[in-house]
Amino acid sequence: MPVLPIVRLGHPALRTPAEPVVPARVVERAFQRLIDDMVETMRAAEGVGLAAPQVGFGLQLFVYEALDAEDPARGIPAIPLRAVINPMVEPLPGELVYDWEGCLSIPDLRGLVPRHPAVRVRGLDRGGGALDYVARGFEARIVQHEFDHLNGVVFLDRMRDLQSLAFYDEWERFLAESGAGARSAPPE
Ligand code: NI
Repeated sequence: MPVLPIVRLGHPALRTPAEPVVPARVVERAFQRLIDDMVETMRAAEGVGLAAPQVGFGLQLFVYEALDAEDPARGIPAIPLRAVINPMVEPLPGELVYDWEGCLSIPDLRGLVPRHPAVRVRGLDRGGGALDYVARGFEARIVQHEFDHLNGVVFLDRMRDLQSLAFYDEWERFLAESGAGARSAPPE
């Protein structure tokens, strides 16, 4: 399975709303291959999520997965692999939570982003079946980040204050252990 090139900020694919996938096409070989390639690409880039526009496909599809961190003290829970097609994401009640995010299409930068603590996700899985589940915490953050990509939105647009925007090396040196969240902020 090939690793696909990830487009970076400035590429129009990141600013164009993605098209819904025709449900009957989900199980077609070409679409299944795209999902496999996206998973491979996400893992190769050591990210926790990847949306189709990030690899130049204007389709409503994202994948995500978080493995156990090497350092469990960093507190990243293991989140099983999911592929989500034609998603609807509905915020559940709760105060916004600020935590660090990065993005594979905005390499090296980290920033504090407010997100809903839990969301209801509806859509299709890679078998074409209906998905309806609640994502909470870090998984809810990933889902909101990837769903934004399907609407031409990146995490920078969601930041309330650009003062926390930092390059990774400086973030690690000065910010990682201070303020909200001490998470390693893997890119999405
Ligand atoms: Ni991203």
